[in-house]
Amino acid sequence: MILLTGGAGYIGSHTAAELMERGRDVIIADDFSNSSPRVIDRLERICGRRPAVFEADVSDHSAMEELFRREKIEAVIHFAGYKAVGESVQKPVQYYKNNLGCTLNLLELMAEHGVKSIIFSSSATVYGPEAIPPYTEDMRTGPCANPYGWSKLMSEEIIRGAATARPEMSAMLLRYFNPIGAHPSGLIGEDPSGIPNNLMPYITKVAVGKLERLNVFGDDYPTPDGTGVRDYIHVCDLAAGHAAALDWCETHTGADMVNLGTGRGYTVLEVVRAFEKASGIPIPYVIAPRRDGDIPVLLADTKKAERVLGWTAKHGIEDMCADSWRWQKCNPEGYATEY
Ligand code: UFG
Repeated sequence: MILLTGGAGYIGSHTAAELMERGRDVIIADDFSNSSPRVIDRLERICGRRPAVFEADVSDHSAMEELFRREKIEAVIHFAGYKAVGESVQKPVQYYKNNLGCTLNLLELMAEHGVKSIIFSSSATVYGPEAIPPYTEDMRTGPCANPYGWSKLMSEEIIRGAATARPEMSAMLLRYFNPIGAHPSGLIGEDPSGIPNNLMPYITKVAVGKLERLNVFGDDYPTPDGTGVRDYIHVCDLAAGHAAALDWCETHTGADMVNLGTGRGYTVLEVVRAFEKASGIPIPYVIAPRRDGDIPVLLADTKKAERVLGWTAKHGIEDMCADSWRWQKCNPEGYATEY
């Protein structure tokens, strides 16, 4: 049984689908504080069987203890955590308490119950300002721009330390670039609460008429059209990266970190144009001031992922836009939609 903490979230749910489609048994531990229980029904429709669910706060030791006692957990994929960059600046203590609390709790329970493998949701945000894109995994990490980023980097260090102390352990730290897209079925996708912070969910909300226009944060960066460049990766490719990491954990010990990106960057305006082409819907936008904390270019070097995990991204920006659009069009109210 593979434990997916935060498995009802955006990346967790796509990874649950990928693993179940590969015949693995999964159990999702989630408190549904930032996800919908309807994800479980949708996963059942996609995979023809229902994932096991354990409703709990992953940082709650006694609740999670029951799960570890009850189930034979082979590996943990740890997605659970707060993820809003701006909010982390307003609520640093809550972010550290929750994100580090979940990681620490899991490592403790894994040691107590003899669970050897962990895959961790890390982020490209751990690379320091001195790192020059494309980022290779050996580049310098930190200082991070916000508590969210620090909580990822600190979790990486904590996991690395735990793996050193328990030589039988395998730990794969996956540094995600910018996940977008959705499952091609249109049944699961990203469903942020309130006004989206991230580019693609904002664009899709403009496309369904829920937001008036996109604010493009800055057009004076040193990039081809002046807007920020990011390495967008299809969430299904990301999910496949987790399946590859699971295979790695089953055959290796120690801790290692790998970027999950495509190695190809797109500007904000290129994404807008690709989305318009995929959906046939014009996206009105205005140029707005730069957003605090944004960097001009974020790009992965993907060679290590290919070498270590035998994994590369398969989907291009066209699929990412078409699948994001299908999800939003079929579910204008997200998981609250009867679909
Ligand atoms: N952007 C806009 N308008 C918007 C939203 C975003 O122009 O309404 C631009 C941003 O300025 C940036 C690009 O679109 O150039 C992508 O922005 P996102 O918010 O989608 O993604 P970020 O790269 O800022 O953030 C992502 C993850 C974070 C992670 C960070 C690492 O969402 O979890 O990368 O830098 F911390």
